[in-house]
Amino acid sequence: MTYIPVTEIIHEAIESVGIHIAPASGFQITEKTSSRDLVTQYDRLVQEKLIAAITERKPDAQFISEELEKKGDLNAENTFIIDPIDGTTNFIHGMGNFAISVAWYKYGEPFYGAVYDPLADEFFEAKVGMGALLNGMRIHVSNAPMRDSIVLFGTSPYNPELTDMTFDLVKKVFGKCQDVRQMGSAALDICHVACGRAGLYFEATLSPWDYAAAAIILKESGGELVNLSGHEIKLSLEKTSVIAGNKNIIAESGIINH
Ligand code: IPD
Ligand code: CA
Ligand code: CA
Repeated sequence: MTYIPVTEIIHEAIESVGIHIAPASGFQITEKTSSRDLVTQYDRLVQEKLIAAITERKPDAQFISEELEKKGDLNAENTFIIDPIDGTTNFIHGMGNFAISVAWYKYGEPFYGAVYDPLADEFFEAKVGMGALLNGMRIHVSNAPMRDSIVLFGTSPYNPELTDMTFDLVKKVFGKCQDVRQMGSAALDICHVACGRAGLYFEATLSPWDYAAAAIILKESGGELVNLSGHEIKLSLEKTSVIAGNKNIIAESGIINH
C-alpha cells in the first residue's frame, strides 16, 4: 500500500469539500449569538467531512472545530483546529472571500496549517520550518512601508463593545497607509498578508480557529502575529486580538498599546 502523508490527506480533503461550497445555494441559516453570527448546513457538512477524513488516518485525533459543541484537547499528540467556513457571512451573500481552515498541532505546538479559498482555487499551506506555499509556490510577506501598503482589518462583528476601538484604529492607520480594506475572512486576510498582497491586518478579537492555520502560514512566510499589546500570540482556546504583518510595519502602524 502506498503511504500518503497526512498533510496530503488534509490537502485533498479540504479541496474536495471545497466543491460543496463554491458556490452554494439553498442555505439553511441559523443564528448563533446574534443576527451577525451565522451557521449554515454547509459549515456543518464541511466540518463533518474533514473530521471523517482525518479520523480515518489518525483515529486518536482531537478536534477543536468551531461548530463542535465539545472541543478537544489542544495539547494532545494530534489536534486539529478547524474553521469549516471562515467568512460565513460572505459565503451566504455570495461575496467570495471565505475559506476552509485547518491547523494541525502536536502536543500544543504548531505543525502544519492549510487555508483554502475555493472560489479563487488558492491553497495556502505551511509545514513548520519548511516555508509557506500558495498553490505550491513559495510566498513571502511584503517589505513595503505603510505608505505603500494596503491594510486589512476585521470588525469583530460579534463583539459590539469593540466597535469604537476598532474604528479608532482604522482611522489611525488610514492616515498612514495607501488604503484600508475590510474583506471578511480573518484566515484569508492573514494569508493575503503572508503572500505580500497586503502589508498589515488587524482585528480586536478572534477565536483560535479563525487564525490557527493562517498564523503558521504567516510565520513561515516571514511575518509575525502579535496581539494589540505587542506580545507574540501562543494559541489557546481564549479569544485574542491579532495584528499580522512584518516586524517593521507592525511597529510603524502605531496601533500597539493604542
Ligand atoms: C469570522 C470571519 C470575519 C471576522 C470575524 C470571524 P466566521 O469568522 O473571519 O472575517 O471578522 O471576527 O469570527 O464566523 O465567518 O467563521
Ligand atoms: Ca471564523
Ligand atoms: Ca466559521
